[in-house]
Amino acid sequence: MNFKSIKDINVQGKTILLRTDLNVPTEDGKVTDTTRIDRLKPTIDYLREAGARILVLSHFGRPDGENNSGLSLAFLAPALQQQWSADVKFCQSTIGEQAETFAASLKDGDIGLLENLRFNKGEKANDSEFAASLAKLGDIYVNDAFSCSHRAHASTEGLAYLLPAAAGLLMEEELKALDAALENPQKPLAAVAGGSKISTKLSVLYNLSERVDFLILGGGMANTFLHAQGIDIGKSLCEKDMADEARKIMEHAKKSGCEIILPVDLVTVTELHENAAYETVSTDNIPPNVMAVDTGPESIKHVTKKIADCKTIVWNGPMGVFEIKPFDEGTNALAKVVAAKTKTGEMVSIAGGGDTVAALENAGTASDFSYISTAGGAFLEWLEGKSLPGIAALEITGKAA
Ligand code: 3PG
Repeated sequence: MNFKSIKDINVQGKTILLRTDLNVPTEDGKVTDTTRIDRLKPTIDYLREAGARILVLSHFGRPDGENNSGLSLAFLAPALQQQWSADVKFCQSTIGEQAETFAASLKDGDIGLLENLRFNKGEKANDSEFAASLAKLGDIYVNDAFSCSHRAHASTEGLAYLLPAAAGLLMEEELKALDAALENPQKPLAAVAGGSKISTKLSVLYNLSERVDFLILGGGMANTFLHAQGIDIGKSLCEKDMADEARKIMEHAKKSGCEIILPVDLVTVTELHENAAYETVSTDNIPPNVMAVDTGPESIKHVTKKIADCKTIVWNGPMGVFEIKPFDEGTNALAKVVAAKTKTGEMVSIAGGGDTVAALENAGTASDFSYISTAGGAFLEWLEGKSLPGIAALEITGKAA
């Protein structure tokens, strides 16, 4: 790594501004998946044992610079306390007198949580005054939020220039695992890209096609590619206005020696609900009144053959509407193939993105993958090969000794 880790610096008695990503999924004010909290525990434990005073910084949702009680981080303190087995105090402010008094009251080993950073306009704007007000609260800046490192915000970028900076253990772990997969991957290399829309993943697909040997498409985005090839996809989700872009990606992939693999059959319904009646049809014979909800079994067989010799696979996005049964079967079947090859050591498998992780968990395979990233958007930008501002800032300011 080209920057310092918390293990390279003396944190004893120092107040650490620890940028985390506590943008966790919730329902009725309760955390529904504690993965992001749990994965921070090694950093928390390390800092506490080393006698640091920890001031946890995070955003939650997109409050657009306004105070929004529905997006307050107050509800998180008990959840952190439980998952980290440590007392966590909450401060209703992010900067200013109240936050300064709160920060000053922390003792060695204490953990304090500040209010949602995005209640301040200066956070997203990467405003230097806001960053300076945050910097006043501590001695050292630690970025442990790989999943936010694609944002050039005050707490992910600006702060790194104002205080001695280092990476947390989760940040290090993410980068090591991801670099091993794409920087020097064992080839052949395949990428699985699913999810509903290609418009949100255009540049990812374009850039990935330069780097991978196989690009396996599923979910709604595969429909747009099928449509772009002149296939009638009935009432399936499709971004018809993206057909030209899809064709450009296909051309680019061909020139780059990447094979795009599209479904050859689809599971279709006329109405989408749990246990809805369905029919599996070949992609050259899709009735006009149906919509595709999953990749079919022939497609999974076809993909399984194609990836038989692959040594590395990166995965973002489900193959179908996995939240509604039985339309998780395509995703489950492919996940099981990848998990089995990973278990035998034939393949390194890396997955990222909230939906993807939920889909792999639903398939019962998440723990068999080589690595599951906590990141969604950052994972995609990293897949593209983009420089992530949060990491670039650490590299500039926190060079390893
Ligand atoms: C995420 O959940 O991917 C990160 O917390 C970033 O959130 P954002 O897309 O609102 O910046």
